[in-house]
Amino acid sequence: MSPQVPLAGVIGWPIGHSASPVVHGHWLQRYGLRGAYVPLEVAAADLAGVIEMLPRAGFVGANVTIPHKEAALALATEATARAHRIGAANTLHFRDGAVSADCTDGIGFVENLRDRCPAWDPAAGPVGLYGAGGAARAVLDALVQAGAPEIRITNRTRARAEALADAAPDRARVVDWAEAGKAAQDALLVVNTTSLGMVGQPAFDLRLPRLPQGALATDIVYTPLETPFLHAAALAGARTVDGLGMLLHQAVPGFEAWFGVRPEVDPELRSVVLQR
Ligand code: ATR
Repeated sequence: MSPQVPLAGVIGWPIGHSASPVVHGHWLQRYGLRGAYVPLEVAAADLAGVIEMLPRAGFVGANVTIPHKEAALALATEATARAHRIGAANTLHFRDGAVSADCTDGIGFVENLRDRCPAWDPAAGPVGLYGAGGAARAVLDALVQAGAPEIRITNRTRARAEALADAAPDRARVVDWAEAGKAAQDALLVVNTTSLGMVGQPAFDLRLPRLPQGALATDIVYTPLETPFLHAAALAGARTVDGLGMLLHQAVPGFEAWFGVRPEVDPELRSVVLQR
């Protein structure tokens, strides 16, 4: 083992809001591992230089967040198929001079639902997907990989929904934002990936139709934990899963690659993150 303490961090701008240092710090302590994980506030103009320098300073990898996810993929020397499909990287691994990129947001999304609802079968029915930004791209990719048969995308800016649907032409179709409720008609899963309902953002005030028995609803927004979307979905008959777990699950592959232990997402981690 190298005598150097393995270092990792999260690169973003700004970075003060990130929960990742708490997540990884908790796991390092819990598993008794040598290592440290720090926030790295990096401006766009400095990103390439920082990614080049970090391995030489003892970093084994890094997470990447807004606004650098697309640029980080372009700077990597290799990338997973899913990072290429999503067009973004949130996890970098530095080894043997290479910068390997992955995007674990989508798998974090699916793992969270599997964890909270073991009976959930992604292939069982249609999905209503609200939003068509970067997060929606990762969610769509993971749902397609998990076997979702039909994904209805609705977004304020229709052109973005159409561009996203092009990523899965045989499974995705666009529903106009003026009729956004229709995306949820008979859906077994409804997902909000817009920023609506986040603290400081406008409320999610769309109407949802009555949802089928067993339907699930989830939101990528987790401040507040019970978003207006989840509230509306519960009234429409869905079981709800909050978005905090997606953040926790997307962190698992990076931690395992950097520090050698596959960490667990459990109630203790949730409460540590909620109390920060
Ligand atoms: P992220 O990477 O988190 O998905 P993003 O790419 O900025 O962030 O996407 C934000 C999403 O929230 C988009 O779907 C956006 O809709 P537009 O494509 O029309 O911008 C959606 N969104 C943000 N504010 C909104 C609002 N006031 N009403 C409806 N949708 C909104």
